[in-house]
Amino acid sequence: MRLIAHLSDLHFGKADPVVVEALVADIVHLKPDLVIISGDLTQRAKSHQFAEARAFLERLGAPVLVVPGNHDLAPFYRPLTRLLAPRAKFEKHLPGLAQATCYSDDEIVAIGLDSTRHLRWQSGKLRSHHLDEVRGELADSADHHCKIAFLHHPPSTAPSGHSFDALVEHGIDLILTGHVHKAHVEVVATPRHGSCVLVQASTACSTRLRQDANGFALIRFDYPRLWVDIRGWNGSAFHNVRVHAFAKQGETWTAAV
Ligand SMILES: [Fe+2]
Ligand SMILES: [Fe+2]
Repeated sequence: MRLIAHLSDLHFGKADPVVVEALVADIVHLKPDLVIISGDLTQRAKSHQFAEARAFLERLGAPVLVVPGNHDLAPFYRPLTRLLAPRAKFEKHLPGLAQATCYSDDEIVAIGLDSTRHLRWQSGKLRSHHLDEVRGELADSADHHCKIAFLHHPPSTAPSGHSFDALVEHGIDLILTGHVHKAHVEVVATPRHGSCVLVQASTACSTRLRQDANGFALIRFDYPRLWVDIRGWNGSAFHNVRVHAFAKQGETWTAAV
């Protein structure tokens, strides 16, 4: 059994300090085996915002994996930096974390994929080298492992849709995304080969709310079953909003009761 906290879109610089404190307390209390952050750690990729994000990550008491979101790249009003070194501050202020985007143990493998594009702002993309990374990381994995890919952009924000089919065809069971600040969980089936579970997290602690409250996903994996608890902020604490249950048969994930 493994417990994974999936957070996204922290947006330090526009974070609500009350929610941040409650979030730290909730995660420390839940004691996940791994925390995965699917991008937008900062609002404008400023040094002090990355410093706040790092201090937050260090308080969680669990291994943390991160990938950048579009807000973590140098902004367009610094065009030269945006062009030449878009991820420089992300890498400088998150040493170790920015480079080590994979985790594995005897039950799970998690692979971070940087879907940001420095010439675009909103849309993301998966590239062929991402699939090479997935193939390499999964080379030694077993059927009973939960194989996780996490990236900032969900398929709905890619110009022609990401080819998440390719991730499923490479054996990915679970895809974790953010960016749109709305919690959403579904099974994604491919026409040719199996299916996976897609989890999109809301913004964990920022005031940039769209159609959803602050929240995150708590994922429990016990092969061949998976549960996704959506935890939401009710104004005074994080609580369980709903639970999604899934089971794997062969290469296929389906909703379970
Ligand atoms: Fe965001
Ligand atoms: Fe974003």
